[in-house]
Amino acid sequence: MYASFRSVGACVPDEIRDNQWFTQRLDTSDEWIIKRTGIKQRRIAKSDEQTSDLGVKAAQVAIKRANIDKKQIDLVICATISPDYMCMPSTACLIAQKLDLGHVMAFDISAACTGFIYALSIAKAFIESGMKKNVLIIGAEKLSNIVDYTDRTTCMLFGDGAGAAIISSTENKDEAIVDVQCSSDGSLNDLLMTPAVHSDELSCMQMKGNETFKIAVRTLTSDVQKIMEKNNYNNDDIDLFIPHQANYRIIKAVGEALGFKESQKVLTVEKYGNTSSASIPMAINECYEDGRLQPGTTMLLDAFGGGLTWGSAIMKFSPNI
Ligand code: UT7
Repeated sequence: MYASFRSVGACVPDEIRDNQWFTQRLDTSDEWIIKRTGIKQRRIAKSDEQTSDLGVKAAQVAIKRANIDKKQIDLVICATISPDYMCMPSTACLIAQKLDLGHVMAFDISAACTGFIYALSIAKAFIESGMKKNVLIIGAEKLSNIVDYTDRTTCMLFGDGAGAAIISSTENKDEAIVDVQCSSDGSLNDLLMTPAVHSDELSCMQMKGNETFKIAVRTLTSDVQKIMEKNNYNNDDIDLFIPHQANYRIIKAVGEALGFKESQKVLTVEKYGNTSSASIPMAINECYEDGRLQPGTTMLLDAFGGGLTWGSAIMKFSPNI
């Protein structure tokens, strides 16, 4: 049995927060933000809109596009660092309930910006082992809940949003997810963290940006080289290179080191900023909606985030048609 990437969906909150919002409140400039990050706007969820609500909206689109009955979903995995509740209930349980999926197995994972790739890896393993057939994976974030809007070194980077996908079993090897590779290094945990240990409040994200930036470029480049070599892929075998959208300069540096053409690179950071675990499925969704993602399109994903965690994946888009 193989696992295949059947469908994608996303939820983009309505409110647009541009760079002027930050320049009016902090010692920063539109020019600095664009030059150092490539970000012009990000989306912000409403105060009564929770991470699970964003996840539900993205999941509804993915389920519809997968051409399956929602009752066929037998596992829900939500990757998030901004859950509705701090420890429990999990956001995945809330999403499953709001979607009326019955007593389905549902849990969250915490792998920061690499969360969607970790979820993909878990879904693949459950399907290949024969335990599950249709897995709903979601990356959903209301990062505006955990951003310190007085910290000019981080706050302009992040936005809210969600993306979802249906991963299903198939006997057709041509449809199979080729490989997913996930790693971590806890010794660098202090580069990106929410430091509260036992607090009744969610604390805000803190990041050693410049150090993280350099490690991200190095790590992502070698991780992609590793998965490409392992699977005997070269750049021409990849249609879309879809990296985590943290900073335009990181994507540019990694893309150049790997030798990808502009036409292969997918960029959404300008419009949405960094939406952590949601950024990759939101970017895949963008490609679906503008026609770049077609049946058989080969995608290369890569991500890097707090933990530290990182990962990459090679897969084909294999819709049920
Ligand atoms: O998604 C998970 C992984 N995340 C990442 O990979 C993000 C990694 N980091 C980054 O994207 C970048 O490091 C940042 C965008 C956060 C910062 O860019 P940078 O080029 O690394 O700048 P820097 O931290 O080295 O700061 C350069 C200068 C400093 O001033 P001095 O010391 O040179 O006088 C900062 O104080 O820019 C200053 N600065 C700002 N100036 C205007 C920092 N933030 C701002 C700001 N506006 N918002």
